[in-house]
Amino acid sequence: MLPENSGRQGGGVEGALSYSDFRFRPARIKKVVAESPKVKSFYLEVREGELPRPGQFYMVWLPGHEEVPMSASDAGADFIRITVSREGETTAQFHRLRRGDSLFLRGPFGNGFSLEGKSFLLVSGGYGAAPLIFAAKEISRAGGRCTYLSGAKNRSELLFLGELRRLGVEPLVATEDGSAGHRGLVTDLVDAVLPRGKYQRVLTCGPELMMYEVVKRAVGRGIKVQASLERYMKCGFGLCGSCVLDPVGLRVCCDGPVFDGELLLKTDFGKRRREASGAGVSL
Ligand SMILES: Cc1cc2nc3c(=O)[nH]c(=O)nc-3n(C[C@H](O)[C@H](O)[C@H](O)COP(=O)(O)OP(=O)(O)OC[C@H]3O[C@@H](n4cnc5c(N)ncnc54)[C@H](O)[C@@H]3O)c2cc1C
Ligand code: FES
Repeated sequence: MLPENSGRQGGGVEGALSYSDFRFRPARIKKVVAESPKVKSFYLEVREGELPRPGQFYMVWLPGHEEVPMSASDAGADFIRITVSREGETTAQFHRLRRGDSLFLRGPFGNGFSLEGKSFLLVSGGYGAAPLIFAAKEISRAGGRCTYLSGAKNRSELLFLGELRRLGVEPLVATEDGSAGHRGLVTDLVDAVLPRGKYQRVLTCGPELMMYEVVKRAVGRGIKVQASLERYMKCGFGLCGSCVLDPVGLRVCCDGPVFDGELLLKTDFGKRRREASGAGVSL
């Protein structure tokens, strides 16, 4: 039971993994942009390997530190961009890097969003904006229309608003402290726009409980919805099982990270996840 946009991975024979998928590739940092006090984007020079699609991710490694999953937030002929929120030790190390330093990448991994259709509602929370700004660019390039809802704790944590405006997309904003836009949760904005718009697809990425609420609302209205999930990842290509969705056994790294909402509602999505040790914890 796989999602419609399920798991093409890396190069090689379609549906199979080739040796190159497991190889680290050095990626030199061309540019660093501070997006907010807590978030930086890194433009990485890529010389080989395929370019990512919106929703795909890389396993990113800095020698001496952990290897962690990061979504692509943009890509062009000779670069990919990752957008890193400083959460703990590894991401704090990433934030110390400068132009000319290198990171090491495996990937792109996972399926990515299905972007068929013409009218989209995009709902982001916090650094969940990373894959969604990339999706908004691809939708605009293909002549589609999107409404973009952006939620954060406060004004300074809202991401990519200028970039969205340059695409011709005016974002609707919610902040928990009321410092910009609607005071409250981004799901309040979903409640306001969903009944009014004619959306073919909803895409969402952000804290899991936020996505759970978005998915329930879209599924309830019969609108196709895709959510990009985070689960603890070790291998990134389907071997270790650390990222599995119970009880259906789908692996977020290779069957996702983007899943169809109706399918997610049959799993522990929005309820439980596994820690690094493999133990399940309530959300
Ligand atoms: C598919 C996917 C895409 C992601 N995309 C982005 C992105 O675009 N930008 C971004 O800032 N973050 C992204 N993340 C989250 C990012 O991987 C974690 O914030 C990062 O691993 C934290 O590491 P740390 O050592 O700094 O913090 P820690 O203190 O070790 O952990 C902070 C939080 O990150 C989680 N985490 C730590 N290691 C991992 C891991 N190996 N896999 C999954 N979660 C982990 C922990 O469970 C904890 O909740 C993504 C995660 C996944 C699964
Ligand atoms: S991270 Fe190992 S199976 Fe998904």
